[in-house]
Amino acid sequence: MKILVTGGAGYIGSHTCVELLNNNHSVIIADNLCNSKKETIDKIKQITNNDVIFYEIDVTDEKAVEEIFKSHKIDGVIHFAGLKAVGESVQLPVKYYYNNIVSTIVLAKTCLNYNVNKLIFSSSATVYGENEVPFIETMNLLPTTNPYGETKAMSERILMDVAKANCNFNVTLLRYFNPIGAHESGLIGESPTGIPNNLMPYITQTAKGIRKELNIYGNDYDTIDGTGVRDYIHVIDLAKGHVKAIEKESNGVNIYNLGTGKGISVLELVNAFEKINNIKIPYKIVARREGDIAECYADASKAEKELDWKAKKDINDMCKDAWRFEKNN
Ligand code: NAD
Ligand code: WQD
Repeated sequence: MKILVTGGAGYIGSHTCVELLNNNHSVIIADNLCNSKKETIDKIKQITNNDVIFYEIDVTDEKAVEEIFKSHKIDGVIHFAGLKAVGESVQLPVKYYYNNIVSTIVLAKTCLNYNVNKLIFSSSATVYGENEVPFIETMNLLPTTNPYGETKAMSERILMDVAKANCNFNVTLLRYFNPIGAHESGLIGESPTGIPNNLMPYITQTAKGIRKELNIYGNDYDTIDGTGVRDYIHVIDLAKGHVKAIEKESNGVNIYNLGTGKGISVLELVNAFEKINNIKIPYKIVARREGDIAECYADASKAEKELDWKAKKDINDMCKDAWRFEKNN
């Protein structure tokens, strides 16, 4: 299939392009590089020994998106392009709502105009809010605590309505849990600009000496050791989930959690990282971070049953691969 991948130069998008190319799909990337680098496109080509078509465009630019649909017979779209910094979204809500919602609307509209009937959307476990774990697709969604999370919930609703009104239009909403790790080549991975918000990049930067110590946000949660519990998933497993989703013949709207189904605490992750990489991570316990929940992990059985997909890599693989990428870059 010929797949348009928006945000394909980014962290999850680049790994997904690799997996798509490895499975004989062809890839067109549309990315404005606002949170990624052009070199990543060359690295995707280097890893896969395949070519990629790249458009440096903003996906909110309807004309620019339309040019791509005019020039290529696209079979499906995977829409990763979006802004994702939770804290920044609280400071800059207009920027987040505009970018994340308008891009979704532009893509849905252009798909309908050009009879492209398959769209996969990067949603997030954040849409579950503070539900009871494990989170399952049939749950009622609860409000999220920030504009970023709201853009994901709203995009889901927009795409569901579009699918309802257009019976040939298939939408797959993939709710990611916490992607970490990197490609085993060490060539592509997560490299946030500035001080990382997320745990794993903070750990790898602390290991490298870029950060003095890790702040662990709270050890008084009702969890195994008091620290926050999350469902960390290797980015390669996540990428493979997209290949399964794009290859599946489907109708209407399909929603899948992409997680491992297993919760890991902050301290468990730090300990695993230290052990497998034989490196110490200095840390201190600080106050809870506003907006954080105690536990978040998936019931991942629907994706296993319907997509024949299951996360295979374990926490040691994630820690090894994340550290290899950090050292290389
Ligand atoms: P990322 O920032 O690495 O990748 C996003 C890419 O989209 C970047 O390359 C950026 O330049 C591009 N982009 C952003 N706005 C654009 C626009 N208007 N036009 C064109 N390109 C644009 O982020 P990621 O971690 O790879 O996340 C990919 C998607 O998955 C995002 O939608 C994100 O919200 C979602 N998601 C991420 C996580 C996570 O923890 N990383 C979890 C759940 C969902
Ligand atoms: C994980 C755990 C922190 C940093 C966020 C978004 C979510 C999704 C994934 C996009 C928590 C703790 C963290 C640090 C710490 N993104 N922590 N010290 O918060 O689960 O999810 O990224 O959709 O929407 O909210 O991920 O990696 O920030 O935190 O102790 O320096 O690590 O409190 O328990 P989170 P995270």
